[in-house]
Order: sequence, then structure tokens, then C-alpha cells
Amino acid sequence: MSPTTLNDPNAYSNCLIVIFGASGDLTKRKLIPALYSLWESGQAPKSFAILGVSRTEFTSESYRDKLFEFSKGSYDPEKWKEFSQCIYYHPGDPTATGSWKDISSTICDISEKHDLGQNRMFYLSVGPQFFEPIINNIGSSGLVTEGRRYCSIGEERPWQRIVIEKPFGSDPASAIKLNNTLAAVFDEDSIYRIDHYLGKELVQNLLVVRFANSIFEPLWNSNYIDHVQITASETVGVEGRGAYYDSPAGGAMRDMVQSHLMQVLSFMAMEPPVRMDAADIRTEKNKIFKALRVPKYEDVPKIAVRGQYGGGQISGKPVMGYRDEKGVAPESQTDTYAAMQVYVDTWRWGGVPFYLRSGKAMAEKKTEIVIYFKPTPHLLLKEEAKKQKPNQIIINVHPNEGIRLRFEGKVPGLGLKIKDVVMDFDYIKQWDVEPSDGYAILLNDVLRGDQMLFKHRDEIEISWNAVQPVLDYWADNPQDDLPNYNAGTWGPSSADIMMARDNRYWHNY
Ligand SMILES: NC(=O)c1ccc[n+]([C@@H]2O[C@H](COP(=O)([O-])OP(=O)(O)OC[C@H]3O[C@@H](n4cnc5c(N)ncnc54)[C@H](OP(=O)(O)O)[C@@H]3O)[C@@H](O)[C@H]2O)c1
Repeated sequence: MSPTTLNDPNAYSNCLIVIFGASGDLTKRKLIPALYSLWESGQAPKSFAILGVSRTEFTSESYRDKLFEFSKGSYDPEKWKEFSQCIYYHPGDPTATGSWKDISSTICDISEKHDLGQNRMFYLSVGPQFFEPIINNIGSSGLVTEGRRYCSIGEERPWQRIVIEKPFGSDPASAIKLNNTLAAVFDEDSIYRIDHYLGKELVQNLLVVRFANSIFEPLWNSNYIDHVQITASETVGVEGRGAYYDSPAGGAMRDMVQSHLMQVLSFMAMEPPVRMDAADIRTEKNKIFKALRVPKYEDVPKIAVRGQYGGGQISGKPVMGYRDEKGVAPESQTDTYAAMQVYVDTWRWGGVPFYLRSGKAMAEKKTEIVIYFKPTPHLLLKEEAKKQKPNQIIINVHPNEGIRLRFEGKVPGLGLKIKDVVMDFDYIKQWDVEPSDGYAILLNDVLRGDQMLFKHRDEIEISWNAVQPVLDYWADNPQDDLPNYNAGTWGPSSADIMMARDNRYWHNY
């Protein structure tokens, strides 16, 4: 059975979308705008309804008004009026078993009113501590009738799918426990572990660049590639979410490296799949996760760096240090910056290090993949050799979406002077559209039953294993130099030292 395709008019079966955490930030900022844009562009079921569930008191009308007010004019008022007729709100606590008699009957009433049958998408847009109670309550409610199947063309069976937000566990054991809770209610085919990075155009473009062009793939291996850097840096700090970030489940290694950056790495490193479908892509990604070298505990100081920002300046404005944020412990050891060297032990990638790093309150906001190529086997332009820089492919995932190829060129004029030049594919200039933030693409995939861009349980469990020695080492060995970088810089000097030991440097421009 395969999921329905984008161009298929039967791609979307009518369904009810139930969002738990409907009063929260993600719902109003990302999920409702994404669903609105899918509806507006005809990439949604002919008939569907959205039911928001959370404890805050709203009526359906006041909830619609709140969403519209929040959008600050980004919805066309007439279209919103039409669209919002399918939005409902139910005040109640989905983690409390006692609330479910009412939640279930509201779900059934709306499904009946809109003739949606039993097709349901459950979206867990709540903090991770609420995932398991809600999943258990969904299981006990009897609303999952056919969670073990997803619907394909011509098949009349109803489907129920669950979308689960990050963070997915905080260590290998908690990830396995959450996977087991999910598996007790839903089949793996119905579970959509979302990572909005995988909805980004440039991450998906990686697959196209690699597998639809013959010029890149021959070079995509340890014969030509020296190393790869994957960076996700933010200029903002924790911005009032200190209490959440400073918890045992917080920090850059858990929040970013283990999840988003490992996923990007798997797209970068995977072998060509037999077909471009979810099953084959997941099979290839899984091989990469299995090949991740788990670092030895005693090697952690050599291959990983923890950082934490102190006060500084970003864009000329003062920024307070992490430990001064509300909810953060004065002696906090939480990593607001994490860098790690990773090896993928396969034939293709033997000996090629992947450097992953992520930080808050950094000098620049960017998510990028930089592929550094090896030098030419023989330097012909000897006197210019010192200036010769490695060839690079730079994939700007966000912002300034695009792909840049950096290579050496001749400076105009007499003599053979060389300088690096850039060939630039700029996404916005090329396509004249703003890239999606990922949620519309991913929600469309869930509606069509396409799991290609969602994480399989095995990927999650293995990627936790690969970072756990680092987390254990950091927990056992408090660092007395924290905070060790100023807000508005490129992170701690220890990260530069880690690269310098390998005779390499970070791509900080
Ligand atoms: N915001 C983002 O940009 C973003 C991005 C990526 C991933 N995520 C993930 O998405 C999820 C939701 O994030 P968010 O930013 O929307 O969170 P949020 O604003 O803090 O709130 C989410 C919801 O949790 C509910 N809630 C709070 N305490 C509760 C309790 N004790 N029992 C039951 N419900 C409770 C709240 O509703 P009531 O208080 O009304 O019940 C609220 O609707 C999180 O897992 C987050 O990691 C968020």
C-alpha cells in the first residue's frame, strides 16, 4: 500500500483534525496558518474540520476570533470567515481521563455533522510531559478503530493518524518508553513523529540535488569530501522559556543536535534509495543511524563541546546572560551551545568527520550544511597555493535559502592570481516565492498518508544512543568555566580548539 500522491484528486479523504494544545503558541503561530494555506490552495480534503482542545476557556466563536486577531491581518477576512466555520473548540484537559467522555462525544458530533466518518488526525501540540497521558486516553476512548492501516486510493477503510511534536524523549530509555506507549495504540504506519526541519525546502532539495543530478553524486564520498559541517545557530536566547530549557530535558544537544541535526545528517549521508518513497527512504536513513559511531565516554572532551552564553550584544542591543534569565538556576550547567564530531562508519563515509553544532544567542541566525572538499592531489600554482581554499558546497537551509558552490577562479589581469568565487542558486530569486516554514508541507503529508519526511522509531532510538555518552559525561563532569561565550559571538573558544586540533575551522561567515 502506498500513500496517495500530490496530484491525485483523491489524495485527501475527508477527516477531522484534533489539536491538543489548541491554546498554545505552536497552534496559533504555525498549525492554523499552515492549515489555512493548504485549504486556500486546494491542498486539503474537500470536507474537513479542526477541533482544538485545551483547558483554557473559549467558545468556538471566541477561539476563532482569537486566532484571527493573532494573525495580524495575514488572513483574507472573507476567506477566513469561510475557512473558520470548520474550526471548533472544546475546553477540557486531555491529560485527565475524566474529560474524555465529553471530548469523545464532541469528536463524534463534529465528525457526523461534517460527514467525516472515522478519519482522524490527532496532533499532540503540548509539552512532552503530556504526550503519554493523552496517547493513553486516545487509546482508551475507542476512537482509534483502524490505526493499524493507512488509507490508499479506492480503499474505504477509515484511518486514524497521530502527529507527535518534539522533544521525543530525553534519553534512550524515555524515547523507547514513549515509542512503546504509541505502539500500544497506533501502528508505526499511523505515527508521524514530526521534525519541522524536514519540511524545509532546502533539506528536501538535498535529495533532489543528490539524486537528480549526475555531477554531484560521483563526488559525494570520502574520496573527495574532507568533512561536513552542519550548523543551526540562533541569535535569540531562551526568551522567557528559561524554566523549560533549563530542565533535565533541555539544552542544545538534546533539543537540536540529537533531533534536527542528526536528521539533516541522515539526508546528507544516505545511499540512494531504490524508490523515492517513504519505506525506501526510511530504510536508507536507518542504515545511516545504525552506522553512527557511538563515542566512548572517555573521548567526549575531544569530540564534543558544551557552551553557555553570558551577557553580550546582538545587533547593537544588550542581551542578558543565560543564568540571568527567569527560571534558570544560577549555577546552571545547561548547554545553550553544543558541538560534536560524528563519524558514519560506512564504506562511503569512512574517515570523514561530520561536525554538528547548534547554539543560542550566537552571532548569526543560520541553518546550513557546508561540504568541504579535499585539496587537488597536486598544487600546480605553487606561489598561490597558500591562498587556495577548499572547494565548498554550501546549502543554506534557512534563511537566504539556496545552494552555493565555492571554487577557485582567476583574478582578472596579468598573471595567474587566484581567488575563491561563488556560483549561487538563490531560492527566492529563482522561484519568486517564499519558502514554506515546513508545517504546511508536513501537514499535507499527514493528510495524504505520506511518511517520507517523518521519523521512524528506530531512527530516534539510535540517535539518542549516539549522543548519550556525551550527555552522561557532561552530567558527571560539571564545567567551571560556564558561561564560556558572550551573547552575539560564535560560541566558546573550546569549539574552535576542537576544530583546530583537526586542522580545520568553522564556517563562520
Ligand atoms: N512553539 C513552537 O514554535 C514550537 C516549535 C517546534 C516544536 N514545538 C513543540 O510543540 C509543542 C507545543 O509547543 P507550544 O509552544 O505550543 O507550547 P505552549 O504554548 O507552552 O502550550 C501548549 C499547550 O499545552 C497546554 N497545557 C499546558 N499545561 C497543561 C497541563 N498541565 N495539562 C494539559 N495541557 C496543558 C496549554 O493549554 P491549556 O493551558 O489551555 O490547557 C497549551 O495549549 C511542544 O512539545 C513544543 O516542544 C513548538
